[in-house]
Amino acid sequence: MISAYPHLIDLNDYPVTWWNGLLAQAEDIMNRPFLYANSCSGKIMGTLFYEPSTRTQMSFQTAMLRLGGTIIGFDNPQTSSVAKGENLKDTTKIISGYSDVLVIRHPTVGAAKAAALTADCPVINAGDGGHLHPTQTLTDLLTLKAEKKTLSGLTIGLCGDLLNGRTVHSLCKAMSCYENNHFIMISTKELKMPSYIKDTIRAHGGTFEETDSLEEALPKLDVLYMTRIQRERFASPEEYEAQKDTYILTTQKMKLAKPDMIVMHPLPRVDEIEVAVDDDPRALYFKQAKYGMYIRMSLILTMLQSTIKTELLAGQVHKGIACKNPKCITNQEYYLPKSFTGTGTTLTCEYCDERLLLEH
Ligand code: NCD
Repeated sequence: MISAYPHLIDLNDYPVTWWNGLLAQAEDIMNRPFLYANSCSGKIMGTLFYEPSTRTQMSFQTAMLRLGGTIIGFDNPQTSSVAKGENLKDTTKIISGYSDVLVIRHPTVGAAKAAALTADCPVINAGDGGHLHPTQTLTDLLTLKAEKKTLSGLTIGLCGDLLNGRTVHSLCKAMSCYENNHFIMISTKELKMPSYIKDTIRAHGGTFEETDSLEEALPKLDVLYMTRIQRERFASPEEYEAQKDTYILTTQKMKLAKPDMIVMHPLPRVDEIEVAVDDDPRALYFKQAKYGMYIRMSLILTMLQSTIKTELLAGQVHKGIACKNPKCITNQEYYLPKSFTGTGTTLTCEYCDERLLLEH
């Protein structure tokens, strides 16, 4: 299914040259903001936040206001008709008709793609469950470019909830498209990186290793990307309790790191970085959040000017076959076409990227 609009569901739907263009434009916005102050004048951005958010939502809103546009939307679906049982399709259809660009965050994997299927304007994925978070990754790319002066040849440590953390999924997929990046995945065995992300890294020629020791990894790193344990994605409180507090970055541990290593975190922080680390000049996470506003300005502008059509579903619906991932949007919004890529016994859901192994 090809949509008449440009959508940003997964950064890897676009070529690296497109990402680099966004980054260059964001740098220009940072240097010459006055040139862009009215560039979205008369345009409206809708924000549908079905899940809590501080930085993503407000940086999107500020970005649009700084471009001269205006904003509508909700940050609590319980105050909208969602509370009366309205489905994603109907909400999207209506609000996309009021807006020039729509930003959506949803707790269910694949929700942004599902919304784009019916939207009458460009849709930007601001996080779909534990799946992807492309605009956080654009934020991270801008931070790396501005602070490390390169997006290649970096050893990047990813620490915490690598299973449920959508920011690290999108970051790995993106950074493996630049040359010679090496990932050190630091997690417990329960919270390891999903295999579809590791497959993508391999497919792009990137390399990775997995460890459970932050102390052992630290001296090797150019970048440490910390994440919180994603409490809301656990099946039970007991499973979360067993994982929380496993990794805590302290000023003591920072002594093991290179003098020019930078610490990034998408935030919010719970307790995985000791507050005293904030005073270390290598702690970049607050600055990182500000870069997020500039890259979102660049993104909104690009989406509003673009005439690109987006291929949302390229695969096929197979009679009687549904996605086995209970967290997939196709198992919540039943009207959606259950579309898969691949052939034979291995099919991949086009919404959640889960592989389905069929038995004959
Ligand atoms: C992240 C998210 O929502 O995925 N935060 C963000 O967008 N800056 C990370 C998180 O919630 O842990």
